[in-house]
This record gives sequence, structure tokens and C-alpha cells, in this order.
Amino acid sequence: MKIFCDDGSTNVKLAWFEKGNITTSLSTNSFRKGWKVEGLGSNQTYNYELEGQKFTFDEVSNEAIETTHIEYQYSDVNVLAVHHALLKSGIPPQEVSLTVTLPISEFYTPDCQKNELAIQRKIDNLMRPVRLNKHEGFVITGVEVMPESLPAVFSQLVEDEVGALEKSLVIDLGGTTLDVGVIVGQFDDVSAIYGNSAIGVSMVTQAALTALKMASSDTSAFVADELIKRREDDAFIRQVVNDESKIPLVLSTINSAIEKLGAEVVDDLAGFRNVNRVYLVGGGASLIEPAVKQAWHNISHKIHVMDTPQLALVKSIAKFKEE
Ligand SMILES: Nc1ncnc2c1ncn2[C@@H]1O[C@H](COP(=O)(O)OP(=O)(O)OP(=O)(O)O)[C@@H](O)[C@H]1O
Ligand SMILES: [Mg+2]
Repeated sequence: MKIFCDDGSTNVKLAWFEKGNITTSLSTNSFRKGWKVEGLGSNQTYNYELEGQKFTFDEVSNEAIETTHIEYQYSDVNVLAVHHALLKSGIPPQEVSLTVTLPISEFYTPDCQKNELAIQRKIDNLMRPVRLNKHEGFVITGVEVMPESLPAVFSQLVEDEVGALEKSLVIDLGGTTLDVGVIVGQFDDVSAIYGNSAIGVSMVTQAALTALKMASSDTSAFVADELIKRREDDAFIRQVVNDESKIPLVLSTINSAIEKLGAEVVDDLAGFRNVNRVYLVGGGASLIEPAVKQAWHNISHKIHVMDTPQLALVKSIAKFKEE
């Protein structure tokens, strides 16, 4: 079976075809060393073994292994995250061949050539077998690698009837990296690529974690990310912030981190102000939309946040490869 997999540093996004329809699923990367007790609680336990080392899926542990760095792409946790996403997708365990993604700054060398070394490193990493304790797992038989960001807009450019001389900036803001590229026309040419692995939603996550710690609520990045998404949901806020007197502090920390993130993205992309269109993808798209609209105010009607921005890349790759 062929499965398309945007294996980001914080979330793995899968897409595949079921009776001709595209289907997607999303899985969070939150693992820690060691195994969990099996058979207690209503959730299935996922205990993994990779090259003799034991890992377990743990959404709430404050010892969750950090994944928001570029080396993640070639790490143990990356392999586990992909296997975990496959197991959670509802697809029965079997042999699969995958199309995965690498940040644009890894996929291409600084002079715009394919970085074959990095691509092979990623393939070798994912081909390592993973054993799932007491359950049947997936076997990865082949891996193909695509760059992040650009492929997300393949069909949108056609739909928008982009002219041959128009330049479109694609901004993919994920947990760890900012990946951008400039496309000429409807993919007639790629005129620039740029990646910054120091700008990502994790800047907001880290700020939220620090504020939560001050509110006596040490937790995982997963919980902090949920809080960022649901920062207007009072009931949820009370569930995760123990010291209620610190709720305003937690919220204002999150909001100013979001503003700072937007400002950094816009600053970092100052060299791309002359494009004709902007497309936003990745989990961070909605967080930076206001800042991007302000910075490119002359073309604000041509700034497009893709539908389900977090899944846009994997869906687009699936459609493109299936044709
Ligand atoms: N609606 C939303 N509002 C705010 N943040 C969101 C939303 N949806 C997703 N996120 C956050 O976006 C981040 C994940 O985005 P995405 O899946 O694009 O990253 P990734 O692909 O794992 O990272 P990278 O591409 O940098 O390796 C997470 O921190 C997640 O909490
Ligand atoms: Mg990503």
C-alpha cells in the first residue's frame, strides 16, 4: 500500500486513498524512554523497541523527548512517530511504501541542488525496523522524499488561475521550521527557496510551558500546544492551569509569544515583499496570518490561508503523486 506522510517534528500527517477518496489522519509526537504498564486504562498502550532501545507513546509526560530541532528528521523518535501514526490511522498493519518530507533547507543545498546525502540519510533512518510489543506492526518497504512547503499549493495555483509572470510566496510554518519558496506562474519555475530552522510554533509552545510551570502545572509540549489552540476556551484553561490566579499571566504570555512569532516571521521574510501572492500552510498558519496580512498589506486580498493548513502539504502530495 502507498501512504503519503508529512512527518513533521511535532505532528505526523498521513494521507491515503480509500476507494478513490482521499483520507487523512494526524498523530502527535510525544514519546519517552522506557515502557508503560500494559492493560491498565482504556487507551491502547504503545510500547516500542528500536535497535534494542525501549520507548513508549506518552502524551502528557514532562519527560517527553524533545523533537523540535532539525536533527529530529534523522532520529529514533522520527521512526517511532511514523510507525505510531500508521498504527493510529486505522489502516491494518501491513507492508507499506511511504512518501515522506524534509524541510526545504535540508532537501536542497544552499545552491538549490537536491541534497542527496540528506535525502539518503532520511531514507536509511526510516527503513530501520520497529517492533511493537505484543501487537503486529507495519513494515516499511520503500521510502521516497519530497520537500516541504512548495508542493502544498500545486493545485491551488491552478484553481487561482495564477498568471505566468506572477510570483507566489509559499510560507510553511511548522513546529520547528519556517520553510518558504517562491513559485513563478503555475509552477513554471521556482525562483527562490529559503528555510529557517530557528523559527517555529515551538517558540510559543516554550513560552506557554514556562508560564505553565510558574502556575504549578509542569506538563508536556502536547498539552501546551492544546492550550495555545484553545486559549479562548475557559473550561479547558481551568483543566490544565492548576494555579488559577496565574491564568491571566499564562494567557498574556501566550498572546505576546504569538505576536513575537508573527513579527519574527515577517522580519525574516523582508526580502520577499515584492511577490504577487502569498500562501500560508502548516500548523502555525493561523497564528501568523494577522502579521503577514499587515506586512503585505498591498496584496492583502491575495493572501490565502490554505484549507486545513496543517494537512495541506500531505493532501497535495497525495493528489499530485496519484495522478
Ligand atoms: N489551529 C491551530 N492554532 C494554533 N496552533 C496550531 C493549530 N494547529 C496546529 N497548531 C500547532 O502547529 C504546530 C504543528 O504544525 P505542523 O504540523 O505544521 O508542524 P510540523 O510539520 O510538525 O513541524 P515542522 O514542519 O517544523 O517539522 C504544533 O505546535 C501545533 O500545536
Ligand atoms: Mg511540517
